[in-house]
Amino acid sequence: MLKGNVIYGQSGGPSSAINSSALGVILESFAHKDVISKVYMMHHGIGGAINDDLIDVTNESVEELEKLKYTSGAFFGSIRYKLKPAEEDETDYKKILETLKKHDIHYFFYNGGNDSMDTCNKISKYLNKVGYPCRVIGIPKTIDNDLPITDHTPGFGTSAKFIANSFIDVSLDNYSYPQGRPIIIEVMGRHAGWLTAASSLANLTGYGPDLIYLPEVSFDMDKFLKDVKRIMDEKHRCLVAVSEGITYKDGSFVAKATKAVDAFGHARLGGVASSLASEIDEKLGLNAKSIELSFLQRGASLVASKTDIEEGVNVGRKAVEFALNGETDRMVTIIRTSDNPYKVEYKSCHLQDVANIEKKVPLEWITKEGNNLTSEFTKYCLPLIEGELEHSFKNGLLDIPHFKNYRK
Ligand code: F6P
Repeated sequence: MLKGNVIYGQSGGPSSAINSSALGVILESFAHKDVISKVYMMHHGIGGAINDDLIDVTNESVEELEKLKYTSGAFFGSIRYKLKPAEEDETDYKKILETLKKHDIHYFFYNGGNDSMDTCNKISKYLNKVGYPCRVIGIPKTIDNDLPITDHTPGFGTSAKFIANSFIDVSLDNYSYPQGRPIIIEVMGRHAGWLTAASSLANLTGYGPDLIYLPEVSFDMDKFLKDVKRIMDEKHRCLVAVSEGITYKDGSFVAKATKAVDAFGHARLGGVASSLASEIDEKLGLNAKSIELSFLQRGASLVASKTDIEEGVNVGRKAVEFALNGETDRMVTIIRTSDNPYKVEYKSCHLQDVANIEKKVPLEWITKEGNNLTSEFTKYCLPLIEGELEHSFKNGLLDIPHFKNYRK
């Protein structure tokens, strides 16, 4: 058995389930004290490993740690940082290696989406090349749900639940008056429409979106305006779900283009709902309203899906279990074995098979008109939003964890 300490890092966009995975890693490591003496969190992801900026959680109480399940954000700090290929520049890798040696770390866990799995993959290959004994395992997380191989990613279920219920709330508001309005709600998800598609679940209550636009289908402004007009004439109100990342046929974003990009070269999106609302005002003379769910959908801890949070803990635990069993260079995957009752198993896949690869909503789950989802999507998504947590509140406010060694 490889004896050594654990390091765990959070990376990319936060979610409501990422801290559950941190909890899973910590608790499973505590359960193997004969092998693992210390558990370190990277402070702000890989930046923490490069700069030897670690948070030691070994002596934190389990009671306080358990609160991580109810806490959104990336509590130990995240980062969007692209490691250069080691063949080009080894500087960061050497610093990471120094940190690992200094703290006797032989178990490395990295929690994130496709870009983060690229980081994890590069580190795994480097450590292997220099012959440093370290088991490297990726832990899936992204509200965007766009990692391949795994059935879904922790974080998606809670955000999907928030989105579906937000549509119900807004729709009920829009039904309050005899004359409603066109309302456009913008949902995150960059190049994949999973989160926007989740708005369709609201239709199970009769209060969902009339039109849904995903990045998987190119957007046609004239057709959109015609559809909004038709629905307004029929129902005197119209609710639209739109992904931040929808594009025209030529591939250009419908959102007003800005030059801002993140470390991985992804465009910083936002503002598509407001552009569409202006277009409706101008061309149809209707008083449209735009809503950007923005970071509210990434937090969303108040409507956390129990299924999502429990799976978040489980992927963290499994990562440690797989590493202790000798696995390395792999990411934990969730494999669905049954829809009814909903059941999953945890497996693993090669990091290089997930790094930088985006999984889109299958085109056969999108209706022929390209503006709604089929029942196949409902069957897939519904189990992921089910179950509620009993949050703990203090003075009416969320009871977030307080750790001895914590740094914001
Ligand atoms: O990666 C998750 C995500 O929430 C995307 O859906 C979104 O496009 C992006 O992060 C926004 O990131 P930020 O504004 O933090 O750069």
